[in-house]
Amino acid sequence: MTKQLEKKHSLAIRWLHWISFPLLTIMIWSGLLIYWANAVYGVKIFDYELFHFFPTWFYETLSIPFRLAEGLQLHFFFMWFFTINGIIYVIYLMFSGEWRALLPVPGSFKRAALVTLKDLHIVKKLPAQGKYNDAQRIAYTGVILLGAASVVTGLAIYKPLQLGWLTNLLGGYEWARWEHFWIMILFVLFFVVHVVQVALAGWSNFRSMVTGYEAIDAESKIPESAHNEEQGATI
Ligand code: HEM
Repeated sequence: MTKQLEKKHSLAIRWLHWISFPLLTIMIWSGLLIYWANAVYGVKIFDYELFHFFPTWFYETLSIPFRLAEGLQLHFFFMWFFTINGIIYVIYLMFSGEWRALLPVPGSFKRAALVTLKDLHIVKKLPAQGKYNDAQRIAYTGVILLGAASVVTGLAIYKPLQLGWLTNLLGGYEWARWEHFWIMILFVLFFVVHVVQVALAGWSNFRSMVTGYEAIDAESKIPESAHNEEQGATI
């Protein structure tokens, strides 16, 4: 197979993407240092708690206990960078026109279901796709909305007096805190699926987010990563 390189991700997308990774990690880590001090959430069926966030061994293994002040400092410092990076990303998507490759389009939900069935090896063929498949479009748009929701709910519990109108809009302090917590869980779920899918799509796809270029088959114009899974369904 003769290969050629094709531009896939712009410099701005790559920088903004890779900056978001350590920032999100710091926000989740410092959030855990804070949450430990009042760890109230769990998954319950009626009065029976199936799982409590988080078990003692989890805190102890990660040396989380008694670091509330450190967590607050880190969280309130890095939240600005996380927010600014997200705002620049959204502005860039809008003005570069790259939102077209990312937002869901009519039929995306149906085609995303087919992508999922293909990933589960239930069907063989994938629907046609552009830069991203429809499952990616939904996941990436969803993670942008998660980013916005994490900032809005975070502000509501950071300044519940000054931003009382926002806290009230989100159902009051307790609800806003609950929403903020579950957004973090959704971020973690996105992250796990995203990294597994990137690993499955292979080296060439990963490298494209570093170098900007992807190796494609010179004749068929199909990306090298697509051969790994017959069409390359990365989320
Ligand atoms: C080790 C961590 C990560 C790895 C290895 C990784 C890898 C990748 C790769 C290879 C792509 C391109 C997929 C393709 O071209 O088919 C991508 C896209 C994307 N990733 Fe990640 N990622 C990571 C962390 C994250 C995190 C933490 C977020 C969210 C905060 C995120 C959000 C996105 C988004 C929104 C896109 C689409 C970018 C665009 O074109 O605008 N990723 N990622």
